[in-house]
Amino acid sequence: MQRAYLVSLQLAGESDWDVEDSLRELKDLAEDAGLEVVDWFVQKRSEPEPATFIGSGKAQELAAIVQEDELVIFDNELTPAQQGNLVDIIGAAVIDRTQLILDIFAQRAWTREGKIQVELAQLNYMLPRLVGSGTALSRLGGGIGTRGPGETKLETDRRRVRKRIADLKAELEAVRSVRATQRARRSKMAVPHVALVGYTNAGKSTLLRALSGADTFVADQLFATLDPTIRRWDLPDGRWVFLGDTVGFIRRLPHTLVAAFRATLEEILYADLLLHVIDSSHPQAREQQLAVEQVLSEIGAAQPVINVYNKIDLCPETREFSGAGVAVSGLTGENLDRLAEEVMAFFNKYFMVQTFRFSFADLGSASKLRSLGRVLDERYTAAGVEITAEVDPVTAGLMRDYRI
Ligand code: GTP
Repeated sequence: MQRAYLVSLQLAGESDWDVEDSLRELKDLAEDAGLEVVDWFVQKRSEPEPATFIGSGKAQELAAIVQEDELVIFDNELTPAQQGNLVDIIGAAVIDRTQLILDIFAQRAWTREGKIQVELAQLNYMLPRLVGSGTALSRLGGGIGTRGPGETKLETDRRRVRKRIADLKAELEAVRSVRATQRARRSKMAVPHVALVGYTNAGKSTLLRALSGADTFVADQLFATLDPTIRRWDLPDGRWVFLGDTVGFIRRLPHTLVAAFRATLEEILYADLLLHVIDSSHPQAREQQLAVEQVLSEIGAAQPVINVYNKIDLCPETREFSGAGVAVSGLTGENLDRLAEEVMAFFNKYFMVQTFRFSFADLGSASKLRSLGRVLDERYTAAGVEITAEVDPVTAGLMRDYRI
């Protein structure tokens, strides 16, 4: 596991509490990205030092601590020049908050649109860094040469990146214009899809593991193209659903990443049901819940939601909680059976088993049903075909005329 140090610059007027809270969030994000956080530092200054951001004295201190194969992550946004100078002084890789979040998005995005948005954000991040000093670039890019690429090479690189940005933008338009509806997408899976959403650190991944069991990773070829964070959740009634993790909401999202973040979130639209995981032990649980709800409504997520008040082992009073939702602990497993019951009850109400009859002239509609519903039985008769299928209310409406 790569080791990382976190650094934050506290400017005059910023409260200790804010800086610490943000650093804690950065630590969670770093761990999410698979890094081991060994230590963190806060440097106080009245304003950033233009060349090195934290001041060259502090940068020298870091140089003495940080090993070459370790990583330094700044909780602030660095200019390309600052980043280059810091790499030179510290002698290790230096990234900022934006770059870390971009890496996480890149790991998480799995729809074509999500991937394009993330790559666009990555390229836009990279572009100004290509015009920085040659040495800095070669270090940033992990190059081994002591001198950076010459001017001509830089020009070619910049042109290549610009061309790629233009290509991706065109592709994004194309993807959007032919974007299949959420229903068409889901129908390919023919299995209900439940998505875990919520603030970063709310406990989504923990719940995903607890509900699906560590060994049930969906490795089947059929699903190999899906997000690796999607697993199979076997419900006690013998049915199973897809359970997917989503990228966590982040308090201080750099503005350059808003589009990419939304695109990764749009994957939520493909789910039949959302489990909104709330860290009920968090002092700002309510604000976080509202922030998530607002973004969900902004991206047009209109699916039913079950609120999951997590971490009740840390705040026993939530157990008495009587509002809509389920209070659980992903860590101890408490009440996960109740959560499963809620989900089963939802799907019992939501999906219905119906039988449809199609004449030979209507075989087109029959194949539509096959792709939209879950076929349980199919019989050919002299007049055509009869299909018994489990369908959602929208499909039931579409197929109303064929129902028997
Ligand atoms: P992101 O991936 O950043 O969005 O976070 P996440 O929502 O997936 O959270 P994750 O599952 O990684 O959990 C965050 C932290 O909370 C971890 O340290 C977990 O061990 C802890 N945690 C999760 N669920 C519980 C719980 O029910 N009780 C307690 N005490 N800790 C929990």
